[in-house]
Amino acid sequence: MAIADSPAWNKYQEQEQEPEHVSRKAISDSLAWKQLQQHMSEIKKTHLRELMKDEQRCKSMIKEVDGIVVDYSRQRATLETVEKLLSLAEEAKLSEKINAMWSGKHINATEDRAVLHVALRAPRDAEIMCDGKNVVPEVWGTLDKIKDFSERVRSGKWIGATGKVLTDVVAIGIGGSFLGPLFVHNALETEPACEELAKGRSLRFLSNVDPVDASIALKGLDPETTLVVVVSKTFTTAETMLNARTCRAWITSKLGVDAVSKHMVAVSTNLKLVEEFGIDPKNAFAFWDWVGGRYSVTSAVGVLPLSLQYGFDKVEEFLKGTWSMDEHFRNTPLKSNIPVLLGLLSVWNVTFLGCPARAILPYSQALQKLAPHIQQVSMESNGKGVAIDGSPLPFEAGEIEFGEPGTNGQHSFYQLIHQGRVVPCDFIGAVKSQKSVYMVGEKVSNHDELMSNFFAQADALANGKSSEDLKAEGVPASLVPHKVFTGNRPSLSILLPNVDAFTVGQLLSLYENRIAVQGFIWNVNSFDQWGVELGKSLASRVRSQLNAARTKEAAVEGFNYSTTFLLQHYLKGKTPVQSSNLVNLFPSEIFPAA
Ligand code: F6P
Repeated sequence: MAIADSPAWNKYQEQEQEPEHVSRKAISDSLAWKQLQQHMSEIKKTHLRELMKDEQRCKSMIKEVDGIVVDYSRQRATLETVEKLLSLAEEAKLSEKINAMWSGKHINATEDRAVLHVALRAPRDAEIMCDGKNVVPEVWGTLDKIKDFSERVRSGKWIGATGKVLTDVVAIGIGGSFLGPLFVHNALETEPACEELAKGRSLRFLSNVDPVDASIALKGLDPETTLVVVVSKTFTTAETMLNARTCRAWITSKLGVDAVSKHMVAVSTNLKLVEEFGIDPKNAFAFWDWVGGRYSVTSAVGVLPLSLQYGFDKVEEFLKGTWSMDEHFRNTPLKSNIPVLLGLLSVWNVTFLGCPARAILPYSQALQKLAPHIQQVSMESNGKGVAIDGSPLPFEAGEIEFGEPGTNGQHSFYQLIHQGRVVPCDFIGAVKSQKSVYMVGEKVSNHDELMSNFFAQADALANGKSSEDLKAEGVPASLVPHKVFTGNRPSLSILLPNVDAFTVGQLLSLYENRIAVQGFIWNVNSFDQWGVELGKSLASRVRSQLNAARTKEAAVEGFNYSTTFLLQHYLKGKTPVQSSNLVNLFPSEIFPAA
């Protein structure tokens, strides 16, 4: 069904009275937008090197929130730019949109849903209303159930079908049901307190339907000591369900069908399908349609696997970190609100300065999966071509996200960032490392060495190096143009006190809310994802064709020349599947029984 024909969409379009958070006017027609466009020519004349000399300006662009320092003085912006961006926020009804989100309005209009992932981390006594009901007690109902279940598994009270303690967890899921939990797990697994809590246990993820991923995830594990958590909001995602059936076969072939109730649990909004799959609904952990997949890491999606690995109390610290930043976002005036300011500056970079990409560069190996997670949060949220009312956007929204931990990235793509395209960078570092290494005789500790690069890179990008400097250094004339750094390249520095459960929560919420701000300004629906549907439905046609070709030797038909050619070439290399002699086939290292 086309979105325009859906009842939710009609309801949205037919609203007689425009809700105060809805703006139907293109934001690019606003006065604030036009003033920013004019202001752009001023900024383009000013080099960052000059802006950085103004200490008053720099001072006002460094903010601290609950222990995290955020320095946006290396953005190509003056105080006037920030003022103008705040006027844009007013025109875009940013405060009204933030309020509408927090008060449970169905701001995800194309799916007729509220957007309340913030309620997932609210304290027990908070009240967050959705459709006339306070949702916080339900959230805590699930959290209590997770705490109880994870403690029973960790303490050995919940045992497998053959009486063994379940020490290994495989979390199956993809997209939002995978990337957030992976990011947080990676961030915590080297943190000393978390290491202690996870002793003797393992947590692995299975996301890709590529059988190689299953063989990696299951390699060396024994079904007798493994708990599989199937994580899927819809419980229909093709890749996840095939991986879930694969793991179910892996368990039942050794332990029998009855073992499923002890070795498989689920996280989903679709408890009916969970039951149909064969998982006891008592062993299902619910969440709600007002939690978008990519915003679901603070629901049972992340909290269950992480609690199994680290214990619920540690994961609660992570939830408290997210809530601390959520509260700042909810309660702080726009002019000193960090997610708001960073969101506005990203709009400035993307839409006005014409820099469509952002590099996420954590100088912390523990944050190595931040960029892949933010890729989904940002690009699935704001990668849209129409405004919330369906009208085509007269400008390009969305941001291309990529990144790697520093210093690894420096030896890879920084060349382009320094002398090629202008890519605004987020530098993220920590005052204290999770691991101290210092060797007598070395100039600095290993962490100081890492952080020397964190501090240096931002200035290198901002200041650059001129031909005059190079000539003064005696660089041969023929090399001067190759060695010039134009500078004037914006970046942002985020300094955490350390990388632990609380600060990881703060960082996550900072990005989630900042990305929401960007979407609110661009006036897109940051909470739907229709763009992923077409590929899924075309894959289903190909799936039917592959089945027919391999089981009945049916000819490839109904595709264009290119796809027909590629499918025929692919099928030539595959063996036909005869229905009379079918057997399960698994790599021997994961399925010795097969
Ligand atoms: O294909 C995109 C998507 O719908 C994401 O939005 C979501 O995070 C992912 O698939 C997984 O969906 P589910 O949790 O329903 O399996």
